[in-house]
Amino acid sequence: MYNKQGYGGGDGMKLVIASDHGGFRLKEEVKAHLTEKGIEFTDYGTHTPERCDYPLIAEKAARAVADGTFDKGILVCGTGIGIGIAANKIHGIRAALCGDTYSAEFARRHNDANILTLGERVIGPGLAKAIVDVFLSTGFDGGRHEIRVNMIKELDK
Ligand code: RB5
Repeated sequence: MYNKQGYGGGDGMKLVIASDHGGFRLKEEVKAHLTEKGIEFTDYGTHTPERCDYPLIAEKAARAVADGTFDKGILVCGTGIGIGIAANKIHGIRAALCGDTYSAEFARRHNDANILTLGERVIGPGLAKAIVDVFLSTGFDGGRHEIRVNMIKELDK
């Protein structure tokens, strides 16, 4: 069942956001958007536009989602691909690269994605913010999709 859950200002969702240098500017735009909406988050870096290695950023944020420190994550790199590949190496992570709002909706509804990845060099800030809004406000449908997500969880044991 489609479950539009509210977020920010009371539902207690814990959100982490992180990027490499390729995603730094979009991360800052997304942070401003979240702040404007009253959505709390923790920034795991990078904190400057200096070159850095996305696998290390992805690992730190993804482990914190996997261990329950955070409920969801938003990771940004140049394409959204590298940081997503790295995040998906961590058991319990279902990171989805989304370049449109339909994908963001179904990444949540069907895949129970717990990390959204975005590509700064691929999409503009307006679309990125719309994708973030859908990702954070859409619930998991469960049912037959839960069976499939449980099958995914078995794959990297
Ligand atoms: C950094 O130049 C770039 O490779 C990185 O941000 C990302 O796009 C990798 O997938």
